[in-house]
Amino acid sequence: MKIKYLLATVLLIGSLIGNSQDKRSAFVDNLISQMTLEEKVGQMNLYNGFFDATGPVPDNQDTKNKYNQIKNGEVGAMLNVKTVKEIKALQQLAVENSRLGIPMLFGFDVIHGHKISGPIPLAESASWDLEAIEKAAAYAAMEAAAVGINWTFAPMVDIGRDARWGRNMEGAGEDTYLGTKIAAARVKGFQGDDLSDPNTIAACAKHFAAYGFAEAGREYNTTDMGLSTLYNVILPPFQAAVDAGVATFMNGFNEINGIPVTGDPWLQRDILKGQWGFDGFVVSDWGSIGEMVAHSYAKDNKTAAKIGANAGSDMDMEAYVYINHLKELVEEGEVKESVLDDAVSRILKVKYDLGLFDDPYLYCDEEKEKSMAVSQEVKDGALDMAKKSIVLLKNDGVLPLSKTSKNVAVIGQIAASKTSVLGSWRLGADDNSAVSVLEGLKPYLGDNMKYERGVEVWSGTEAFAQELKINEDNTDGIDEAVKLAKSSDVVIVVAGEHGYQSGEGRSRADIRLPGLQRKMLKKICAVNSNVVLVLTNGRPLDLSWEDANIPAILETWQLGAMSGHAIAEVLFGEHNPSGKLPMTFPREVGQVPLYYNQKSTGRGGAKDMVFWSHYSDVPNTGLYPFGHGLSYTKYDYSGLSITQQGNTFTVSVNVTNSGKRDGHEVVQLYIRDKYASVTRPIKELKGFEKVFIKAGETQTVQFTLDDTTLGFYNNQGTYIVEDGDFEVMVGGDSVNTQNGAFTRG
Ligand code: GLC
Repeated sequence: MKIKYLLATVLLIGSLIGNSQDKRSAFVDNLISQMTLEEKVGQMNLYNGFFDATGPVPDNQDTKNKYNQIKNGEVGAMLNVKTVKEIKALQQLAVENSRLGIPMLFGFDVIHGHKISGPIPLAESASWDLEAIEKAAAYAAMEAAAVGINWTFAPMVDIGRDARWGRNMEGAGEDTYLGTKIAAARVKGFQGDDLSDPNTIAACAKHFAAYGFAEAGREYNTTDMGLSTLYNVILPPFQAAVDAGVATFMNGFNEINGIPVTGDPWLQRDILKGQWGFDGFVVSDWGSIGEMVAHSYAKDNKTAAKIGANAGSDMDMEAYVYINHLKELVEEGEVKESVLDDAVSRILKVKYDLGLFDDPYLYCDEEKEKSMAVSQEVKDGALDMAKKSIVLLKNDGVLPLSKTSKNVAVIGQIAASKTSVLGSWRLGADDNSAVSVLEGLKPYLGDNMKYERGVEVWSGTEAFAQELKINEDNTDGIDEAVKLAKSSDVVIVVAGEHGYQSGEGRSRADIRLPGLQRKMLKKICAVNSNVVLVLTNGRPLDLSWEDANIPAILETWQLGAMSGHAIAEVLFGEHNPSGKLPMTFPREVGQVPLYYNQKSTGRGGAKDMVFWSHYSDVPNTGLYPFGHGLSYTKYDYSGLSITQQGNTFTVSVNVTNSGKRDGHEVVQLYIRDKYASVTRPIKELKGFEKVFIKAGETQTVQFTLDDTTLGFYNNQGTYIVEDGDFEVMVGGDSVNTQNGAFTRG
């Protein structure tokens, strides 16, 4: 029976039943009762887009096979299909040809904007502005929904502590508390209050779990951590996504304690679906179920399918193991049909919530597709987010530049690039769709600026799946850059990583400026002391030389389509920078993984002999600490006070803008639990407030500490709060703080 009739029947039944959840369950249960085993397996099968659906029936066998499977209702979802026309054609193929006409989900990596690329997620996280971050996700959802996409593989909520790992760019950095807040904001932004709203899309918390702890920061490497780190550092942002109502989860390529997460029932069933009550579905990461064979965990693909299904991986992305083996496994009793029923129920509920059973073409509006592609509202949103994401790392007075600056040199291949600053996870955006730094500077400087590319950083193909060719030996261009610098009043050098030097598959063992950029910088600084370094990068870098020799350093990450305008507005003081680092910047890569909330160890603290936890050649601290970010004004902290009401503590501090410019300050609250039944970090972020303070004014900022923030997870995964002594630290970063203390109990 076609869906529409089934729907009418069930809605009739549903009208006799209680609330919308019951109606949804009744509909889904009834639909499942009609489904064959092949159709159930089909719902658990996710294919990548593979042919022009608006064209003739594909003739190569593999594609023809998929085409027929879609028509037979054996494909529950597709990814990477890019236009309304394509998506509508594929949806029609499924809905109008298959026996039950179940609509497909259309997923895409909408990671930071879509056609109009926004700042990379790590940049957004540097804004510490949850409202702006939520809004950015809402714009991304609007853009994606306008092209027919109803499911994004975002937010990535992996905690990242290792600067060598390429996917730091995709997350919220090293801190769990900030990560939980941003996870919830991004989920709410993508999903809104009503998933059936055609401007909202289903979100996907990923990669469950611990993918960011790849050993040595090497992509896809083994991850190995203790239970205390898993429970206290890694899992909370995922649970925050569940609490925010995330519709789907994606697992990962890595293992935990010798078990590939895609085959781990303890993670996916006991914790996620059991303890946390997650009622959505889990999609595997690309091929991860089949990769259990490569992990030497499954003997063959059929065994991998059995392990994955029984472990709670509800949908197979591009491993072809469910479509090829699950029916047989059920018939052989290796996988109970009830396992499929649970997975299919979860998948159908997301489709129901998206409104796809009411209207499978809800997201297929070509007029909306056209208008959203050039939406000024989205562009303005991307610009606003970009400005808020910029972090002023150092400023010895060179910034802001005067708008009447004359004789300005702009140097760097990245400065002219309209592609690099888009970042790497921007498959929906066209190449060359960014406002370059040069284009952003033009309205301010006009003919007062001269440009030199300087040394080549990269050459050849700039593509998502290709290694970028980095120039390590050709010094052409340096002499011209130095000559221009010598004859200029101020030099803006735009340097860093190309957008395709971070992201998936892009770990780096050397986290200094790539190629010969530092070599060029040294020569420029030798002839001009008025240098502003504008960085574009997707991870913390080793900037030790730059910090010691360059008077002004601006961290701009990769800011997406509106990069040039955002950077220019900050350089010329139109926007007072307010970003704060979501990751520690190390002095040397040898310190990595380096993060602020370290354990004290049994031998912390500097001593006048060698037997303490340290390196003989580098300090333990980062070059720029977590939470660091300067402003064109100055904020002074005073009057820290702590009051107690039972086990609730109110922390209050005065923040004075003692400079001449209005600005936003991110006031950060850290605690230290001095002793507990598991060791606790030397400090932990437990609150932050981004406040606007006019020049000369003072604001009092208050935080509350209670059982929700003073506790931790023990090694059994139970959240506990213990009496004891606590230190409190409040400031504009994780190092320069006003300090206090209290005792609980
Ligand atoms: C990739 C990524 C994952 C992404 C998926 C679909 O391998 O690991 O984050 O969502 O495949 O593109």
